[in-house]
This record gives sequence, C-alpha cells and structure tokens, in this order.
Amino acid sequence: LDNGVGRVPPMGFNTWNTFGCNIDENLLHQTADAMVSSGMRDLGYKYVVVDDCWFDPNRDSAGNLRANAQRFPSGMKALGDYLHARGLLFGIYQVPVDKTCAQYFNSYPGATGSRGHEYQDAATFASWGVDFLKYDWCSPTGTIDDQVRTFAIMRDALRATGRPIFYSINPNSIHEKTGPRRNWSDVANMWRTTEDITNTWNSGQTNGYPMGIQNIVDVTVPLSHYAAPGGFNDPDMLEVGNGGMNDTEMRSHFALWAMMASPLIAGNDVRSMSAATRTILTNPRLIAFNQDTLGLQARQVSFDGTRRVLAKPLANGDVAVALFNQGGSTTTISTTAAAVGRSGSSFTLVDAWTGGTSTTTGTISASVPAHGTAVYRLSGGGVQQPTATTLVSESSGRCL
Ligand code: GLA
Repeated sequence: LDNGVGRVPPMGFNTWNTFGCNIDENLLHQTADAMVSSGMRDLGYKYVVVDDCWFDPNRDSAGNLRANAQRFPSGMKALGDYLHARGLLFGIYQVPVDKTCAQYFNSYPGATGSRGHEYQDAATFASWGVDFLKYDWCSPTGTIDDQVRTFAIMRDALRATGRPIFYSINPNSIHEKTGPRRNWSDVANMWRTTEDITNTWNSGQTNGYPMGIQNIVDVTVPLSHYAAPGGFNDPDMLEVGNGGMNDTEMRSHFALWAMMASPLIAGNDVRSMSAATRTILTNPRLIAFNQDTLGLQARQVSFDGTRRVLAKPLANGDVAVALFNQGGSTTTISTTAAAVGRSGSSFTLVDAWTGGTSTTTGTISASVPAHGTAVYRLSGGGVQQPTATTLVSESSGRCL
C-alpha cells in the first residue's frame, strides 16, 4: 500500500499476547518506559499497540468511540502524547464488523465495530495521534468480496485524515480458515497469514486455532512473493519470552520472523523480561535483516521436510541465509553461495547469533540442533544467474 508508511516491516509491542483484556494506562506507561530503558526503542521498536478492550462498550451521543474511563482515565489523546514524548508511536485496535474478538469470545460488553462509522472513527483516531491501526475481522461471517470492500473503506478513511497511519489488517480471526486468500498489498501495510499464534512450537494445526511457531512458518514461507516495501505478510505477534518453548525454539522464532520480513511486534512483558529474552529481541544483526530497505521476504532455497534453507537478499548485495532444522534431532544443513544467488569463490560469513566471522569458497553449512536455526550474512562475490533448478524450487511453494 502506497500510503507513505511501512516501507520496512513495523517493529513495536502489542498488549494482547501477554495481557489480553487486562490493560490500563499504567501498564502502557510502564511498557513505554521499559522500551526506552531496555534499548528496544533505539533499535526500532517504535509502535506501542493497545489491542482489544481499551474502549467504552458504548459510543457517545454523537456516535464517537471513546476510551474505557476506568482503564484509561486520562483518555487516548493523553496516551498518544505520552508515547510521542518518548519517541514512540501509538497503535490501536478496532474491528469493522459489530464486535471485537473480546466481545465475541471473552464477554467484553458492547458491539462497537466501525462499519458505517469509518470516516468518523478514522478522524477520531487521527485526533488522538494514532499512528497504527490494527483492524481485525472478528466475525464468523463475511465473503472475501465483503472483506475486500470493508477493509478498503477504512484504508480510504485513514488516508482522508491526512495523517500517515500504518494499516494492519486481520482477515483471519474468524476461527475457521487460515492463510491469506488474496494478496492484500493493495489494501493494507500488513495482513495476517494465519489464525492466532500461541506460545507453542507445534500445535499440530495448519488450518485453524491455535497455531504454533512451526505451523505458521509452514504457511507463511510460501507467501514470500506477496511481501514488498509498503506491504508485508503478518505471521502474528512474537511469543519470545512467553514460555512454552525452549531457548533454541525462541531463537528460531525470532530469526525466522526476521527472515520472513515479518512485523517484529513483541508480545511479552517487556517490563520484566529476562536477559535471555532481551538478547533475542535486541539482536542487531537479525533486526538489520528484517529492516533491510529492499523489503524482501526470504525465498525458500530448499526444503526436504526437515531441513529448510531460506535466503533474503539485502540492499547492499549481501544475502541473509537461514538453515532451519524442523526435525527432532541435530542435523547438518548445507547450501551454497550459488544457490542463494551469489557467484564467485571467496565469501565472508558473519554468524548472526555470535557475530563471529569466517570465510568460505561457497559452502554454507552448520550442525543445527532440533528446532534450531543457524543464520548468516553472506558477503562477497557477484550476482549469480539462478539455475533452472533454483527457479523450480523457488516457485514450488504452496498455491493458495
Ligand atoms: C483476534 C486477533 C488477536 C487479538 C484478539 C483480540 O483473535 O487475531 O491478535 O487482537 O483478536 O481480541
């Protein structure tokens, strides 16, 4: 979407994964302060997104949305001011149709959807200083045409405010189907690719709720051709630091999101995160891959059902390479500079985890633990014309 924002994937924090409906302005203030003091803001984590349950269940007499006065007694404009004063950006959650997911599933009262109020609500958000809207289709009904029309009305309403507002949509909250049924880059800056993430490695689900990390990767890797500056696949907010996975799996989760040019929206309690969690979320080499201005999602180079190789071309000609072991035991994963698009016989590899440097004549290989991911920056050489074999494997993703 060409609306002046989202040229690279957004980074930030969202309340939902850890706090659900238990949110208030104190939590947001403390989180914002922690994002500054932890160094997250300076690494790019700018959007602070207030998810579901921030609003009063009833609009005011003029039909305007308003904050829940118990949770946000100072109001949403004041929250926006608080964030902006700290160099952060303000995100908010809303739905098009009738009810938010909390109103459907968690008995939060009211039915405050924006349908029929789009221009009014967009103007309200702009007046509060909102910089990011998460617009969530939480309805069990609705055809794809209905979704396109409805999401596009809010896109136009946001544009009409004159304020640059990042537009995040979720056509997948209907708890029925998963996978984007179209390329949404004409409508939004990011679009969810699956049902909700959970802090598990593998939920056994590929088409429904809940999705584990592995399952979301399976769905999102083949969608790499949708991603470009202005619009990115959204495999959902991070579960790094939320338990439910071991350290190796947490690191893979972050590395794969970085490689998939996915939004890096922390979903943990950043006020009390462990040093290990902070180290993962603030890895500068992986963040640089994610935020690269070419804005490309890693293409799949090879996958044998266990060993998955991904390559993400970077703006300066380097290539980010991930060797991901989906299997349950340690295995060696290998690829070559030629397979990831570079010609030549002398290259440098920087290990994205350790920062350590090595040289290679073209082989990229590592022993990778179960569910682990080795990640490197490959520098040197020239552009390698892809071979027919590479082209076939690049286009062999799932057809949707
Ligand atoms: C849906 C979304 C989640 C979150 C909840 C809030 O399930 O997919 O990300 O916004 O709604 O109720």
